[in-house]
Amino acid sequence: MSAKINVDMLQRGLKTRCLGRHVFFSGKVDSTNNWAKELASFGAGEGLVTVAETQSAGRGRLDREWISPAGGLWFSAILKPNLKPHEAVKLVFVAGLAVAEVFSEFYGLRVETKWPNDILVNRRKVCGLLAEMNTVGDTVNYVVIGIGVNANFDVKKALPEELWKNATSLQSELGRKVQLETLFRALLEKLEKVYELFMKEGFRPVLEEWKKYAFFLGRQVEVTIQRENVSGLALDVDQNGALVLKLENGRTKQVFVGDIRERTR
Ligand code: BTN
Repeated sequence: MSAKINVDMLQRGLKTRCLGRHVFFSGKVDSTNNWAKELASFGAGEGLVTVAETQSAGRGRLDREWISPAGGLWFSAILKPNLKPHEAVKLVFVAGLAVAEVFSEFYGLRVETKWPNDILVNRRKVCGLLAEMNTVGDTVNYVVIGIGVNANFDVKKALPEELWKNATSLQSELGRKVQLETLFRALLEKLEKVYELFMKEGFRPVLEEWKKYAFFLGRQVEVTIQRENVSGLALDVDQNGALVLKLENGRTKQVFVGDIRERTR
């Protein structure tokens, strides 16, 4: 299977109403999120998707670097939901559920979600999500949802050594390459479906499904919150999308931004 993306195949048979009706493709960009944000700021409409074979400055959450070699699937979609910013932040769970369902339905993988934006297989990260919002006051102009799938590469060949322990790829898990164009279409179709559910019925049904993949719930975890480590029992993810921790002193704490790890001792 070719490592290259066949542009003509990306939209062939795509069964969406809106997502991916316009696709911008490049062999290499700095970041598909940057590209989509730029297009959105020039008036591009909901559903436009940017895709690249490699990214020279792929970004993760909290401005971390996201290494994006050839063989991965790196893309970003523009959404223009009629929501307030505190509702729009939940779109990262919408995307997470879509990815989890596609990976488990298409490839039979035992997928896990890690709060707030990681998709894991065998406790290693196979996909990351980056939602970025543009607002004016209380109005959301657009949200760009970036999806990065470690797909057709060997982690030990394509990623730096410090990532080997916590990263995996579809290829490593399945022992074969996947068709990137088919995966792209499946992800857009599912994303649209979950997005429509969210817009129609709210966050509750999305969160309920997302939690079914959440391995950390009911476990002892450590969370880094602005360089401080907090330990506790991961009780829940609430209707705000916040992690609810039961601390060692018995109190509960709502965490909105942080990095979670399972506690091994
Ligand atoms: C994370 O795990 O912190 C999020 C990683 C998101 C990576 C994707 S790849 C496509 C899109 N473009 C970017 O620069 N980032 C996202």
